[in-house]
Amino acid sequence: MATSFAVNTVIVILTLILAPIAVFPNLAVSAEPHERLSGTAGDVLEDDPVGRLKVFVYELPSKYNQKMLEKDPRCLRHMFASEIFVHQFLLSSPVRTLNPQEADWFYTPVYTTCDLTPNGFPLPFKSPQMMRSAIQYISKRWPYWNRTEGADHFFVVPHDFGACFHYQEEQAINRGILPVLLRATLVQTFGQSYHACLKDGSIVVPPYCPPQKMQNHLIPPRTPRSIFVYFRGLYNDAFNDPQGGYYARGARASVWENFKSNPVFDISTLHPATYYEDMQRAIFCLCPLGWAPWSPRLVESVIFGCIPVIIADDIVLPFTDAIPWNEIAVFVPEIDVPKLDTILTSISPDEILRKQRLLANPAMKQAMLFTQPAEPGDAFHQILNGLARKLPHDSSISVQPGQQFLNWNSGPPGDLQPWE
Ligand SMILES: *[C@@H]1O[C@H](CO)[C@@H](O)[C@H](O)[C@H]1NC(C)=O
Repeated sequence: MATSFAVNTVIVILTLILAPIAVFPNLAVSAEPHERLSGTAGDVLEDDPVGRLKVFVYELPSKYNQKMLEKDPRCLRHMFASEIFVHQFLLSSPVRTLNPQEADWFYTPVYTTCDLTPNGFPLPFKSPQMMRSAIQYISKRWPYWNRTEGADHFFVVPHDFGACFHYQEEQAINRGILPVLLRATLVQTFGQSYHACLKDGSIVVPPYCPPQKMQNHLIPPRTPRSIFVYFRGLYNDAFNDPQGGYYARGARASVWENFKSNPVFDISTLHPATYYEDMQRAIFCLCPLGWAPWSPRLVESVIFGCIPVIIADDIVLPFTDAIPWNEIAVFVPEIDVPKLDTILTSISPDEILRKQRLLANPAMKQAMLFTQPAEPGDAFHQILNGLARKLPHDSSISVQPGQQFLNWNSGPPGDLQPWE
């Protein structure tokens, strides 16, 4: 009882203090006071990549991209849609060059997450075949792939475990990164240290969340944050993990078991129509791992100014060189989930205020969004910044006569079948 009284008092105090620092009429533009972080993280957030790199976009048969999209336009709206938007933005970007001779980077527009089940879930099972087929196509028609075996090529692979192309971690680890991509730079949502599906030099990006839809759900900026902790989503996945404990490594089930009847935890499996509004009324938003360590909640929390509580050990977050995640978020080790209430209630109002002020920085929100059309500072520009920072390429990326790095015949037999 004593704890719950203390917590309620904290909420009342915080609500009063924090009222003026809610969200803003425009997602990314704000006149409200916000804090910028001094130091290294954040310094590159507003970099302009234009003039710092040139990208050549391969022209592929439409079966690798446009036809997939026409077959099921739902893949334009799901959390993996960055693969489509990056393609669209690049076509009209000033960093694009039509002359491959002068390109720093080569981009192959292949939509590997656009093959959906009738329910709209992306099936990654044909993605490896499709990717191999696209790379075979470019390597036969242009000399640039063979020149480096892909070391100056980048690919957008936004699926759960990136280029491992499986949604279950164990399977993804067993598969490993598609062998023909081992020299390329991967732009992916999956990020976890010491993991078979994240290789050095990858660019970790936010998942796609529809900017216009979030915009449509903004509530008046001075609305008090009367919810202490908020979460909506699955606690277990009975279909794929009937025994329990494997999905989310048990962390979500533990949140539910420990806090389902705790009055300061507003948590449930129901996804209400007011989901986005609720996040704007909350102080802390839980971002636990699911099948993968990341989820759209990371983006939604930043956009809606709700302090992300990240429960995903060893997660590598999007654009870590630009976004000061350690300052804006709270990190809770998976093993400490049972202590979540004391961890969060012992964070001082000053600390909460500071995190909220940093989150209010419009540049931070802009970096999480694939705005349409692309705008300076958005997620697309952060990707370009990441690619520009990897230049110039080391001269050792060139493949010398007689050298061969990639093994086209490795991988599960099914992956080696032609893609049709
Ligand atoms: C690139 O190498 C592959 C395999 O050695 C070969 O089949 C292909 O023709 C080469 N591409 C070009 C453009 O020479």
